[in-house]
Amino acid sequence: MILVAGATAHFGRQAVESLVAAGHQVRALSRTPEAAGLPDGVEVVRGDLTQAATLAPALTGVTAVFLVLPYQMDPTAFLDAAREAGVGRIVFLSSGAVVEGADEQPDVIAAYHHGVERAIRANGAEWTFLRIFFPAINSLSFAMQLADGDVVRGPYAGAQSAPVHEGDVGEVAARVLTEDGHAGKVYELTGPESMTQAEQVSTLGRVLGRPLSFEELDPEPVRAQMGQFMDPAFINALFDLMAATVGKPAPVNSLVADLTGRPARGYAQWVADHVADFS
Ligand SMILES: NC(=O)c1ccc[n+]([C@@H]2O[C@H](COP(=O)([O-])OP(=O)(O)OC[C@H]3O[C@@H](n4cnc5c(N)ncnc54)[C@H](OP(=O)(O)O)[C@@H]3O)[C@@H](O)[C@H]2O)c1
Repeated sequence: MILVAGATAHFGRQAVESLVAAGHQVRALSRTPEAAGLPDGVEVVRGDLTQAATLAPALTGVTAVFLVLPYQMDPTAFLDAAREAGVGRIVFLSSGAVVEGADEQPDVIAAYHHGVERAIRANGAEWTFLRIFFPAINSLSFAMQLADGDVVRGPYAGAQSAPVHEGDVGEVAARVLTEDGHAGKVYELTGPESMTQAEQVSTLGRVLGRPLSFEELDPEPVRAQMGQFMDPAFINALFDLMAATVGKPAPVNSLVADLTGRPARGYAQWVADHVADFS
C-alpha cells in the first residue's frame, strides 16, 4: 500500500492518478476525505500531518509514502509515525532552491526543504528527493490578473525557469515509489525548455487565443506590498531566486524522460491542460 500526503492538491493528486493508472493500491491522506474527489479505488483516509494520533491508522500496512508538505509544516509528527509504522520508503517533494551539501542554506525556502530532507535522511527509511524549481503551476498566479485584462504585471520579466508539469512530477513520483534503484537519489526535475516569465505569458496568450503581455514592475514596491500579507523572508527568497535567473537560461535535463520513458511535457501543453483555470 502506498500513502500519498498532499493528495488533494497539485502534485499529490497527480501521483495518485499515476499510481492508480499503473494498478497500484493507493491510500490518500486528507483532513476532509469527503471533499477529496480522487479516482475510484483510492482509499481516502482522514488524517492530519501535524496530529500524531490521526496518523497511525493511515500508515498501517503502508510500504512507501509520497510526502508533499505544505510550506513550513513541521514533518516531525509524520516522520515519527512513519518510522513507528515501519514505512520502508519515503519520496519527498523538495525544492530546487536547496544547495546540495551546504549546512548553511541561502534562503528560507531552501532552508525549510533542506531541514525536511535532513530529517528524512535521519529517519531510517529509504529516501528519494524530487526537487523542483518554479513549476508550471506557479503560473496559476497569473490567472487572477488575467481575469481583469490581458496584461500580467510583475517584477523580473526576464527571470528564466524550465517549468515542470505537475503531471510529470506525479508520474516520476509513481515510478520512484514503486521501482527499485532510486534509494538515496536526488532528482532535480525540470521541464523541457527554459523560458522567461514574459515568454510564458506570450505562450499563455497563444494557446488561449488572447493578446497577452507581461509588463515589468519595479520589484521594490511589489516586495513592500506583498510583505504586508506574506512572510517577507519568503518574498525576499522568491525575488532573489528570480533576480538570479535574469539573463541566465535555467538548467534543463532529461530526468523526466529517463524516469518515465516519455518526453517531459512543455509549457504550451501545461496551458492547454489548464485552459479552464484561465477562463
Ligand atoms: N510551487 C513551488 O514553487 C514549489 C517549488 C518547490 C517545491 N514545492 C513543494 O510543493 C509543495 C506544495 O504542493 P501542493 O501545491 O501540491 O500542495 P499545497 O497546496 O501546498 O498543500 C495542500 C495539500 O496539503 C494537504 N494538507 C495541508 N495541511 C494538511 C494537514 N495539516 N494535514 C494533512 N494534509 C494537509 C491538503 O490536504 P487536505 O486539504 O485534503 O487535508 C492538500 O492536499 C510546497 O510546500 C513545496 O514543498 C513547491
